[in-house]
This record gives sequence, structure tokens and C-alpha cells, in this order.
Amino acid sequence: MRLKIGAPEPRKSNAFRGMIAVAALAAGGSAAFAQDADKTLIERGRYLSTASDCVACHTAPGGSEKYAGGYAVQSPMGAIWATNITPSKEFGIGNWSEEEFARAVRDGIAKDGSHLYPAMPYPSYAKITDEDIAALYAYFIHEVTPVDKPNVKTELEFPFSVRASMAGWNMLFLDRTRFQPDATQSAEWNRGAYLAEGPAHCSTCHTPRNALMGEDASQTYAGGSLGLWYAPNITPHKIAGIGSWSRDDLTQYLRTGNVIGKSQAGGAMAEAIEHSFQHLTDDDINAIVTYVQSVPAIGSAETVSRFDYAPPNETEAVLRGAPGADDPGFRLFSGTCAACHGVNGQGAKDYPSLYNNAVTGADRPDNLIATIVEGVHRNAGGVATMMPGFGPAAYPTESLSDQEIADVSNYVFATFGNPAVKVTADQVTELRNGGPKPLIVKLAPYTPYAAAVGVVVFLLAIWGVLRLIRRRQAA
Ligand code: HEC
Ligand code: HEC
Ligand code: HEC
Repeated sequence: MRLKIGAPEPRKSNAFRGMIAVAALAAGGSAAFAQDADKTLIERGRYLSTASDCVACHTAPGGSEKYAGGYAVQSPMGAIWATNITPSKEFGIGNWSEEEFARAVRDGIAKDGSHLYPAMPYPSYAKITDEDIAALYAYFIHEVTPVDKPNVKTELEFPFSVRASMAGWNMLFLDRTRFQPDATQSAEWNRGAYLAEGPAHCSTCHTPRNALMGEDASQTYAGGSLGLWYAPNITPHKIAGIGSWSRDDLTQYLRTGNVIGKSQAGGAMAEAIEHSFQHLTDDDINAIVTYVQSVPAIGSAETVSRFDYAPPNETEAVLRGAPGADDPGFRLFSGTCAACHGVNGQGAKDYPSLYNNAVTGADRPDNLIATIVEGVHRNAGGVATMMPGFGPAAYPTESLSDQEIADVSNYVFATFGNPAVKVTADQVTELRNGGPKPLIVKLAPYTPYAAAVGVVVFLLAIWGVLRLIRRRQAA
């Protein structure tokens, strides 16, 4: 049976399918070849959906119903529910044309014309080519199993509940130009740039956001907060970034999430490696590495690289201001962490050392707190890695309070890592509640007042103008 592919509307991307079909027909002139062309397109779409990690958000946690939705992306504005994108006609995208699908994925506009929130990474997917959108569409419509599961409605507070306001946001932050190859660079570099900026959306997490939650284009890859976790600076800066990493280091990290003596992947990075990056071809990983190592280096106030805090000897530890045996942080460390990471933080097989470690050498505590709260869970490179989390909700019996997490963090930073970082219980509480709020969220409760003030100012202005006119008339 021949698969039916594509939207009824003629689209640019149909030319690509046409090309494959024509090539197939020219080669053999039979319908079987056209069918192979469709299969090729579907396989390309499957690969792209992996490279884009659509599954990360569109599948419920632990979900067996792939792409049926039911996962809430936690944003500073509240929970935004990823939807059912299986070809279910009732609840999914079964009735969507390729045009409508392309508009949602790249422009952030749903079938009914309403605006999507950028929790769906369409600002990155905007780079995806027409050919690749056609392949993604073919895969989702013809290969994904339809699941008739209704969506959870996203209900944000006013003013964020007004989806139309995203039109203004898009004017400021959405660049609709598709990926443009740079003729002065190699084919490998261009492939890497395309994957990193488009499907693999590294900047969604690794680029800091401005007060309006848009990516700060002058700080690409310089590090961004995701709430509890922090996606560090991955520019080639020798101190603030990953300039000291070799090609092999970065390749190994994207494949396995573990480079001994440098960094382990937890949180959203562990998920991205597990579901997406480890499955990419060698050529594509090489291309991403080539590109990421070529972006402009961006520095910070740090003077020591986070990977370079060396093992402490005892006197040094004391000089650094490390707490002694009567310190609550030390007692928590020896009771809770030392069994795996060693009393001297030296680690063991399967357990990383706590010095020469990106998390303890960082100039901010986010990822140490996140690691203690959530632990590390990663299935990559054929190895299942697990550190238990000590957040009260997850493990009531072994849980640590916010004060205890602050104490043990202070001990770990002072003894093994960056001694300049100090953690308070309030900081732990704030991070566990989703991190510091961006300005627009802080101002949101005042929107009605702002609107009221705006109206008053407007009325005063009219009154002023009228008075002026009257005076003129009187004069
Ligand atoms: C980082 C999380 C995330 C990733 C990755 C992601 N999405 Fe989404 N997507 C969302 C969220 C959240 C929504 C709902 C947004 C809203 O309600 O405004 C959404 C909405 C959509 C919609 C609109 C559905 C509807 O019913 O209106 C489509 C289509 C879609 N995504 C397809 C994809 C595809 C295809 C991929 C991979 C190429 C993908 N998404 C990757 C989070 C994500
Ligand atoms: C969904 C969010 C997300 C995406 C997408 C993402 N990252 Fe990450 N990344 C993170 C987080 C969070 C960390 C910190 C993990 C940790 O320390 O446990 C991280 C860590 C890293 C590190 C280690 C840095 C260090 O100092 O330890 C590298 C290298 C990296 N990412 C590269 C990439 C590249 C390249 C891409 C795109 C191909 C990418 N990431 C996409 C969230 C993300
Ligand atoms: C049961 C063993 C175990 C215990 C207990 C444990 N860890 Fe871990 N820890 C691990 C494993 C396993 C990893 C992940 C190794 C990997 O990613 O390859 C890890 C990773 C880490 C990392 C790096 C995380 C990242 O995302 O880069 C830090 C930092 C850390 N642990 C600190 C701690 C602290 C502090 C405690 C005590 C509160 C603790 N660990 C308790 C096993 C443990």
C-alpha cells in the first residue's frame, strides 16, 4: 500500500518530496520506489524528532503513551502543558495540514490561530528548513501511534493568560528567517550550526534571558537559569566557559553525560542526552562540537575555571575557611554524601570526585542545590546512572530541610570547590520554588494598577491638551 503523505495545499516543501519521488521513478519507474521515498522521508522525520527532543516535553513522565502530552513545562509564569501531538483526530494533530503543523512548530501559532507560549521552543525551531518540516510532518502523521487522550488546559494568571500578547513578544524576539548557511564556513560547521541553533535548541537553555524572557542575543551560550537547574556557559572561554575541553571531552559529554574530572550531566541536560544527543550520528555530533567550539567566547568575573578547583590538603582546607568536625555541614556530609563520594570528596568508580567538578567549582550554587534536591538520573551510553535526591517531597525519610541543604552545600563549596560561594536556607527555598522571578513576572501583579495608572495619565494628558487649546482660544 502506498502511504499518503502531505498536505493538500501545494507547498515549497512538496518540491523536496517531488525530487525524491522523481529520482526514485527515474531510477526504477515503479510505485515501489516512490514508497521507498516516503519511507526515507519518514525515517528522516523520525531522526529529526529525536534531534529536536520533541518527546522530552510531549510525553508524560514515565509515559508509555509517546507524544500524547501531559507534561507540564514549569515556567516562571506557571505550568504550561505540552499537548497531544499524536495523529489522534480528536485530541491530537490528526486533522492538521502540513502548513498548520509548520506554523505551530516554527511560528508558534496553533491550528485555531491562537499563539503558543515559547515554552514550546519555536524560536529555535524557526530555523528548521522546509524539507525537514516536511519530514517531521510525515513522521508524526504516518508513523506515530495515535492516542485519544485529551489535553490539560494551561491556565496562567492574568496578564499571561492573554495569548495574543505573544504577538508582541514575537515581534521583539522571534526571528523568522530559516537557517542560512555561511558560505565562508565548512559543510560540517554549517551542519553543526543548523543542528545546535535549530532542532537541538542549545540556546533555549544555555542563553540567558532578559527582563521580558527573550533570549539575550549578545550573550549566546553564556549560561541561563532554568529555575532549579542552571545551564552553564558553554562558549569557548578558557575560564568562564568550556575552552579547556578537548573535542573528545565535548563529544564524550554529549554521548554519555560524563567527563571524569570535569562534569556530569543532571537535570534537563541528562534528559536531553538520554532522549536526544546520544542517538545522533557520529557525523552530527562532530558537527555540533565543531560549531559550539567556534562561537564567540564570553567571559565573566571568575578568575578560576570551575573545572580547576584541585583536591584540598588539610591545611589548605583550613586556610580556605573549611568548617571543622563540629560543623553541621560536615556532619551532614559524612552521614549523607561520603558513603559514595568519599570522606575526602575523592569519589570512587561510578561516583565523581567533588573537586575538579563543574558543579562545586561554579560561581553560583544552583546546580549543587539542584543535585542534592533531585539527584542525578541518566540513561546514556549503555549505563544507567543514579544518585538519589534528598528533596523532602521525593524521599520523606531521607529528606534534608532547606537549612540542611544550605549547610551541606556550604561545607562542600568551602572544602572541595569554590569557597567564595555561600548558600542560605532562603536561597534554597527560592530555587526549589522555581528560582528568582524575571522582572515581567514580578511586575505582573501590578498590571491592573499599571493599566489604571495608564488611564489616569491618559486622561490627565487629554485634560492638559484641552486646557491648552482653551487658553489659546481665550488668548
Ligand atoms: C521544551 C518543551 C517542548 C519541546 C522540546 C517541544 N515542544 Fe511542542 N509544545 C510544548 C508546549 C509547552 C506546548 C503548548 C504551548 C502552549 O500551550 O502555548 C507545545 C505545543 C506544540 C504544538 C501545538 C499543539 C496544539 O494542539 O496546539 C505542536 C504541533 C508541537 N508542540 C509540536 C512539537 C514538535 C514537532 C516538537 C519537536 C520538533 C516539539 N513540539 C518540541 C513544549 C515543547
Ligand atoms: C533542556 C535544556 C538544555 C538543552 C536543550 C541543552 N542543555 Fe546543556 N546543560 C543544561 C543543564 C541544566 C546543564 C547542567 C547540568 C549539570 O551540571 O548537571 C547543562 C550542561 C551542559 C554542558 C556541561 C557544562 C559544564 O560546565 O558542566 C555542556 C558542555 C552542554 N550542556 C552542552 C550543550 C549543547 C552543545 C547543547 C545543544 C546541542 C545543549 N547543551 C543543550 C541544559 C540544557
Ligand atoms: C548513593 C550514592 C550517592 C550519594 C549518597 C550521593 N551521591 Fe552525589 N552522585 C552520585 C552519582 C552516581 C552521581 C552521578 C555520576 C555521573 O553522573 O556519572 C553523583 C553526582 C554528584 C554531583 C555532580 C552532579 C552534576 O550534575 O554534575 C555532585 C555535585 C554530587 N553528586 C554531590 C553530592 C552530595 C553533596 C551528596 C550528599 C548530600 C551526594 N552527592 C550524595 C552518587 C551519590
